[in-house]
Amino acid sequence: MLQPLFAVEAGGATVPVTILLVALVGFGVAYFVVGPGKRKGPKRYGDIPLAMRPYHSDEELETTGMERAMAWGVALAVFASLFLPLYWLIEPDRIERAVDQFYEEDVAAGRAEYQNACASCHGVNLEGGSAPHPDPDVDTPWPAPALDNIVARYQDSEIVTDVQEFIILTLVHGRNGTPMQAFGVANGGTYSDNQLDQITAYILSVQTGELPQAQEFVGRSGEDVYENNCARCHGQQAEGWVGPQLLNVFERYGWTGEDDASLESARAAVRQVLYEGRNLVGNAPMPAFDQELTDDAIEAVIDHLQEIQQLDGPSFGQIGGDPVPGEEED
Ligand code: HEC
Ligand code: HEC
Repeated sequence: MLQPLFAVEAGGATVPVTILLVALVGFGVAYFVVGPGKRKGPKRYGDIPLAMRPYHSDEELETTGMERAMAWGVALAVFASLFLPLYWLIEPDRIERAVDQFYEEDVAAGRAEYQNACASCHGVNLEGGSAPHPDPDVDTPWPAPALDNIVARYQDSEIVTDVQEFIILTLVHGRNGTPMQAFGVANGGTYSDNQLDQITAYILSVQTGELPQAQEFVGRSGEDVYENNCARCHGQQAEGWVGPQLLNVFERYGWTGEDDASLESARAAVRQVLYEGRNLVGNAPMPAFDQELTDDAIEAVIDHLQEIQQLDGPSFGQIGGDPVPGEEED
């Protein structure tokens, strides 16, 4: 509302500089036009010593002179009492606009950085894409998730509470063993924290809020579902890659190979991982599949895992480890 008065350029130093100039000019006027600097002519008192120069008469000093001094005092007091509240009123508004402008600059810089560094995999419009599998023997490309819906996708997530932080951490560390490399300087990337913040600000500024459609399951088997959604991380034969091998995952969750109760609780544990995903600090995340796969598809892939389970299987883990020879191959 008060902006035209000050014509402030947000973020600039226009306000303080204007105030300083006005104050200097005001002081100059006061000093030279009416104050002690007043001169009538260049050489008027040229040879009279300073203390002996004629000045106002006593009478003048006690009447008009004094009144003038008091008027100045009042004028300055009024100025101060108006200026301070006015400044106090304008300042928050100015700060807010400065913040807005910084934000817009960040988003613009982030957009350019995104187009350079990310668009080839995640799509020019953040619609998602893919990249070759880091293992040259695997032909199936690795899907790069759409980023224009990342907020919606993780909104009700059990494993991600702060999407902004999640994006930044993904950029800082990358995803070891996947095509998603680290971009932060700390992990061999070339992007400063500030640039990662800018890219993140850009991503968050273009959210569509739309959730992806779950994949069609009709006509597919649990093995297909595994092949399309799990093999890239857990290995073609479930031997493990970025994620742990799944050949004895039921056993790891308590299956004894005999009773139905332990089978059901192992299936339930696996089901929970599939619906909720897992994001432990320092580990690669296991994505949640509750949006991507239908309930039928999730049951089918659990059935498939059950078929390939081994008891006394290989131990947990081994990223990119040697494929485990096993009965699971058909
Ligand atoms: C070479 C291809 C490639 C490039 C370049 C790339 N990414 Fe990725 N990104 C991927 C893949 C593949 C994944 C999925 C990894 C996985 O399955 O865990 C991914 C995952 C992500 C995720 C996690 C998404 C989610 O839903 O969990 C974010 C966020 C992300 N990338 C942001 C970026 C940004 C920002 C850039 C640019 C600075 C970038 N990526 C550059 C391939 C790429
Ligand atoms: C982007 C890579 C990735 C994809 C795709 C993926 N997983 Fe995972 N998965 C992981 C990682 C990493 C872990 C280990 C997470 C942890 O424990 O911190 C994991 C853990 C698991 C676990 C728990 C293992 C255990 O011993 O606790 C199961 C079960 C599992 N995944 C099944 C699947 C199935 C089934 C699919 C396909 C529908 C799938 N995963 C797709 C990366 C992935």
